[in-house]
This record gives sequence, C-alpha cells and structure tokens, in this order.
Amino acid sequence: MMTSNNISFAWFVTISMLCLLANSQLTTDFYSKTCPNLRTIVRDQIIKVIKTEPRMAASLLRLHFHDCFVNGCDASILLDGADGEKFALPNINSARGFEVVDSIKSAVESSCSGVVSCADILAVAARYSVVFSGGRRYDVPLGRRDGLVANQTGANLMLPAPFETLGNITRKFEAVGLNITDVVVLSGAHTFGKASCATFRNRLFNFSGTNAPDSTLLDSNMVSVLQNLCPVNGDGRQTTALDWNSTENFDNHYFRSLVNGRGLLESDQVLYSSDEAISTTRSLVELYSKNWQIFLDDFKHSMVKMGNIQPLTGSSGEIRKNCRVVNS
Ligand code: HEM
Ligand SMILES: *[C@@H]1O[C@H](CO)[C@@H](O)[C@H](O)[C@H]1NC(C)=O
Ligand SMILES: *[C@@H]1O[C@H](CO)[C@@H](O)[C@H](O)[C@H]1NC(C)=O
Ligand SMILES: *[C@@H]1O[C@H](CO)[C@@H](O)[C@H](O)[C@H]1NC(C)=O
Ligand SMILES: *[C@@H]1O[C@H](CO)[C@@H](O)[C@H](O)[C@H]1NC(C)=O
Ligand SMILES: *[C@@H]1O[C@H](CO)[C@@H](O)[C@H](O)[C@H]1NC(C)=O
Repeated sequence: MMTSNNISFAWFVTISMLCLLANSQLTTDFYSKTCPNLRTIVRDQIIKVIKTEPRMAASLLRLHFHDCFVNGCDASILLDGADGEKFALPNINSARGFEVVDSIKSAVESSCSGVVSCADILAVAARYSVVFSGGRRYDVPLGRRDGLVANQTGANLMLPAPFETLGNITRKFEAVGLNITDVVVLSGAHTFGKASCATFRNRLFNFSGTNAPDSTLLDSNMVSVLQNLCPVNGDGRQTTALDWNSTENFDNHYFRSLVNGRGLLESDQVLYSSDEAISTTRSLVELYSKNWQIFLDDFKHSMVKMGNIQPLTGSSGEIRKNCRVVNS
C-alpha cells in the first residue's frame, strides 16, 4: 500500500520527468521536414550581412543572450512597443540587429511559411555569427516557440550589468540554470563587438571614489586612450572594441587581455582580478588564456545550455509571422 508520502514522491518523480522531457523537446532535426533549408537560408543571410558589417555578428549573439535570460529563449526581446524589453536599461541604446532579424525572418518565410519561430532564428543566427567570426561549429537544438509577452521589468531584473560584483552576476546566471563556469565561458563572447562609454566610463577617472582610474586596468596607454574617447561629460554612446587585440575575431584574446589587465568592462576584469576570482574564476581565465581550443569547445557547450533556457514547446506560445508583434 502506498502512503501519502509515497504518493507525493511518485508525483514528484513524474513531474520532474515531465520537466526533463519538456527540456529535451528541442531537437537538432526539428525542421528537417518542414523547413529543410533553414540553416542554409540563415547562413547566407549572415554571410551577406557581416561582409558589410562585421560587428553585426556580435550584436546578433548578444540578442540571443538577452532573449534567453528573460522569460526563456522565446524571442520576447524582439517585440516592439513602449513596454518592450528593447527599452529596458541593458538594451536601450545598445541592443541592435533587429532589422537583420527581420530580413532573415522574411527570407525564411518565403521558403517555409509559418513554421520557424523567431526564437529559433535568433539561436541559429547566433551560431552562424560565432562560426563565421572564427568560433567552433555546433548543432543547435531547435523547436522553440515564440512568447506572447515582452517583459521589460524582467529584462531590468535578470540581465547582468557591467557594474555588478562577480557574485551578483553569478547569481543572475544561476537564476536561469547556468553556473559560474558558464559565466566565464560565455563572457568570452566579449572577444568581439563593441561597448559604449556609458558602460565603462566609471573606471576611468574616479573609480569608486579613489580619484584615480580602476587600478585593475593595468595598461596605462589604454587608460589614456579611453579617457580621451570617453570624457566625463562626453557622449556616453561613443563606442570602442571590447577586445582591442582582435576586434572582429572570435578567439581567446579576450582572456589573454584579462590576464594582462586589459579587460574593458569592470565585469570582465573581475573574472581575473577581484578577490572573489582567486578561489573561483581566475584559474579558468588562465586556462583559456593559454588554450584557445579548450575555450572554443567549452563555448559550444555553454551556448547550447544557454539556448535551452525555458523554451516554449508543444502548443505553448506561437510561431510569430512578424518577429516584432504577436499574431492577432
Ligand atoms: C557576464 C555578464 C555580462 C555583462 C555584465 C555584459 C555586459 C555587456 C555590456 C555592458 C556590453 C556593451 C553594450 C553597449 O554598450 O552597447 C556588452 C556587449 C556585448 N556582450 Fe555582454 N555582458 C555579459 C555577458 C555576455 C554574454 C553571456 C554574451 C553572449 C554569450 C555577451 C555578448 C556580448 C556581445 C557579443 C557584445 C557586443 C555587442 C555589439 O557589439 O553589438 N555578453 N555586454
Ligand atoms: C518577468 O520576469 C520576471 C523575472 O524573471 C518574472 O518573475 C515575471 O513573472 C515575468 N513576468 C511576465 C509577465 O512574464
Ligand atoms: C548585489 O546584489 C544585492 C542584492 O540584490 C544588492 O543589494 C547589491 O547592491 C548588488 N551589488 C552590486 C555591486 O550590484
Ligand atoms: C557547470 O556546469 C557544467 C555542465 O554544464 C559542468 O561541467 C561544470 O562542472 C559546472 N561548473 C561548476 C563550477 O559547477
Ligand atoms: C571622486 O568621488 C568621490 C566619491 O564619490 C567624491 O567625493 C570626490 O569628490 C570625487 N572626486 C572628484 C575629483 O570628482
Ligand atoms: C595585445 O595588444 C597589446 C597592445 O598593443 C600588446 O602589448 C599585446 O602583446 C597584445 N596581445 C596579444 C595576445 O596579441
């Protein structure tokens, strides 16, 4: 006979297994019958766009990240409207690539109408962006559906800011099922793309009230170039490369720069230089700085993990016709 404890345990097991199933519903061959050319279509669009604007690869990868951390990977970041995620602090004046996603979506629609979600398009676009910038290939699990709501409050709450401590950033990753290894690995995405003065100017003149630049920014030439680029009352939207050594390549220069005290964002440099890092992330930064291959391999793994955050599957959500608005 089952006791009530046994019964609730049986339920617990059943429900846990259902959750696991929900997660494993993404499959790499999801569109093999309904949109067999999906990858080729996205690939061709990415090749075309980064030929004229290499930075777009970085911008598209960031869109996928900022999508997944808010209500899961459900393309909620793409929704227009004043209450959209686009206007949340981590995205306003910085999230970019929306027009490119529109073009990819129309190319996909004209070949296979109404079957491919915008959330999956973001995941595949991010993958080709990494690959064509020098990263490793990986299979992208597919089958996500698009969400019905944007969550601006969620974007402000869940997305990490460059001024946060390593502990706080790690907690934000843990809130979506990622761990401190993923923090280091995925921060390696800052090997390409740009950041605006507003996101690191606090380090340049009077860092934490010290009347001096951040002492962990060791390259004095870099400090003076950045001070000229980002004067105290200058335009906070002025940008510079996150990785000065190879602006457009997906490589491990980012980690080498951290070891040399040349990380641009405070949230980058803390992975190596903070007290917290000594017992947590510093050794991994050192490993990646010495071994390009291990970083590229681990990056694939963490990307798949990030792409699996709370996907809508089955009959949840919808397949949006236009990535900017929910279907009527
Ligand atoms: C660890 C916590 C993170 C923080 C605090 C952070 C913060 C930032 C900031 C402040 C910028 C500059 C935005 C701007 O000024 O326009 C940026 C850019 C970027 N981030 Fe992150 N980020 C983090 C993690 C990630 C992750 C996990 C990814 C992707 C896997 C990523 C990919 C990028 C890319 C590619 C850019 C350049 C975008 C472009 O050039 O358009 N970041 N990040
Ligand atoms: C918005 O995101 C927050 C943080 O993840 C969550 O608690 C909340 O339920 C979300 N709201 C909606 C409407 O999805
Ligand atoms: C870290 O998180 C705590 C709790 O949310 C907050 O009070 C604190 O201001 C955060 N610290 C930084 C530097 O963001
Ligand atoms: C983080 O998760 C990965 C699996 O995705 C695991 O291999 C790794 O050891 C974990 N790291 C920590 C610090 O728990
Ligand atoms: C530097 O910051 C501290 C604390 O915020 C402030 O008291 C001090 O006046 C600032 N120094 C200058 C030169 O602005
Ligand atoms: C990066 O650039 C700096 C300054 O130009 C240089 O000193 C350093 O050796 C470079 N590092 C790599 C790994 O190329």
